[in-house]
Amino acid sequence: MRKKIVAGNWKMNMDYEEGLSLFSEVINMVHDEVTGKQHVVVCSPFIHLHSLAHLAKGYNKVSIGAQNAHQAESGAYTGEISAKMIHSTGAEYVILGHSERRQYFGETNELLAKKIDTALKNSLKPIFCIGETLKERETEKHFEVIKTQLEEGSFHLDAEQFGKLVIAYEPVWAIGTGITATSAQAQEIHMFIRKEIVKKYGQEVAENTTILYGGSCNAKNACDLFGQPDIDGGLIGGASLKSRDFLDIVKEFN
Ligand code: PGA
Repeated sequence: MRKKIVAGNWKMNMDYEEGLSLFSEVINMVHDEVTGKQHVVVCSPFIHLHSLAHLAKGYNKVSIGAQNAHQAESGAYTGEISAKMIHSTGAEYVILGHSERRQYFGETNELLAKKIDTALKNSLKPIFCIGETLKERETEKHFEVIKTQLEEGSFHLDAEQFGKLVIAYEPVWAIGTGITATSAQAQEIHMFIRKEIVKKYGQEVAENTTILYGGSCNAKNACDLFGQPDIDGGLIGGASLKSRDFLDIVKEFN
């Protein structure tokens, strides 16, 4: 059975103290209120990782993740953070290919394939984000775009490596806009993604792949989204910045 995951993406929010107090609230609420098998991943800025991983010790339902990692192992890349460094903090996951990284930092599928390799080599589990822009959807290119992102970013992996990935479908037009994909729209793409994985890696790998939905997911629409057969959880931006809002989404799997 594939893992159900609700991941928070804090993006560039929360100073050090704010992050610690938000996370403390989150783990206490998870401890008190989460009764299902779902797993919670909090993807914080780099400055919080080590402290959050420390706080999360003993809470087996909660893991920590970063929001980016460099493709090189180490070296003269001033200001960058390597996968090995992230892993050394106790973080287990790393978001790669978020549309904001693609848009503002020019990250391409080719670069992301390298980042995924380096993350896996350093025992991090990539949360690999794919998704179409509004223009691409309006011109009915969304299936083609998703397929290309998936193939160029991750289909060079062997089945065992691919099995360590979490895929996040995040339509760019739904991120931070308050416009959510309908559960039918999201399910259609999730099913498409899973079918592409079947074609490449076979039924078993596809059935075991966790595919998250992201884009204006909140406590109101999560129930409907998470109820779809191919949606295995969410990647939550804005609503992960308030512990109550985030937990209400997490609890949709109780
Ligand atoms: P949002 O962001 O929930 O604020 O739309 C989701 C994301 O970017 O991962």
